[in-house]
Amino acid sequence: MTDLFDFSSQSKRFAVIGNPIAHSKSPQIHQAFARQFTLTIEYQRTQVDPGGFHQAVSHFAAHGGSGLNITVPFKLEAFDWCSRLPNQLTERAGAAGAVNTIKFNKDGTALGDNTDGVGMLRDIEQNAGVEVSGKSLLVIGAGGAVRGILQPLIEAGAGEVCIVNRTVQKARDLASLFSNDDCRILASSYAQLDKRPFDIIINGTSASLGGDLPPLHNECIAEHSLAYDMMYASRPTVFMAWASGHGAGKSLDGLGMLVEQAAESFYIWHDKKPVTAPVLEEIRQLN
Ligand code: ATR
Repeated sequence: MTDLFDFSSQSKRFAVIGNPIAHSKSPQIHQAFARQFTLTIEYQRTQVDPGGFHQAVSHFAAHGGSGLNITVPFKLEAFDWCSRLPNQLTERAGAAGAVNTIKFNKDGTALGDNTDGVGMLRDIEQNAGVEVSGKSLLVIGAGGAVRGILQPLIEAGAGEVCIVNRTVQKARDLASLFSNDDCRILASSYAQLDKRPFDIIINGTSASLGGDLPPLHNECIAEHSLAYDMMYASRPTVFMAWASGHGAGKSLDGLGMLVEQAAESFYIWHDKKPVTAPVLEEIRQLN
């Protein structure tokens, strides 16, 4: 195959694979982390055609690549690739059903992980200073992005998680998959959603991509609510604008989650924990 990857450097090699990929900020984030430890790394963006994922990953591994990040639309295929023996999956990747980080070991095996959920949790708890423990959460959407964040939120002690989705059966499926003695997990349609405020409202739909707003009623927002959009853009998303316009105390986009999930990937690969706040600031300026 024409080489998708640059194997000429002697430094440890990393890449993010997706389609499209030109917009990815992962190279800048990982290079900023590496500078904190005076590490020299190669980190490139690689666009892979639909159907070419498995071949691309095997090729990268065979040439001594150290680690990959995987983004839309390949996280499920990455999960499949890592499910094949002798590769391994972390428990959180198993719960998410998706892999966004692969570490290639010297013995030829690979470990698949998912750092999205922990990235979001750190952004909410450490960066925004909002504790999840005991809180009522409204999670909007029931696709792969939402599946990836539920376990860390439940483990952080969320008091209640209500999943609302256009296709209500998908919300019900997730609610039963993550059913748990310590946390009340509910599924709802938009029409039947309780008319009461939630502490944390997370938009995990792809609606923001098209500038659309999920059909939520205003009563789910209160002054103390944190509104969190997993998407990010150079300007506040329509969801953030809607939440702020209806009195949410705080609204955040997913750029902090992007930087925090990258920090966790960096830790998996290098066993070093980068400082994220200045990197988030730097990446925000690029937007
Ligand atoms: P991802 O892996 O990014 O989560 P996905 O699995 O295609 O992508 O899920 C997209 C989510 O956004 C779904 O919950 C979808 O609702 P449906 O399951 O009913 O399709 C939701 N979604 C997308 N566009 C939407 C819109 N305009 N309004 C409300 N929900 C929307």
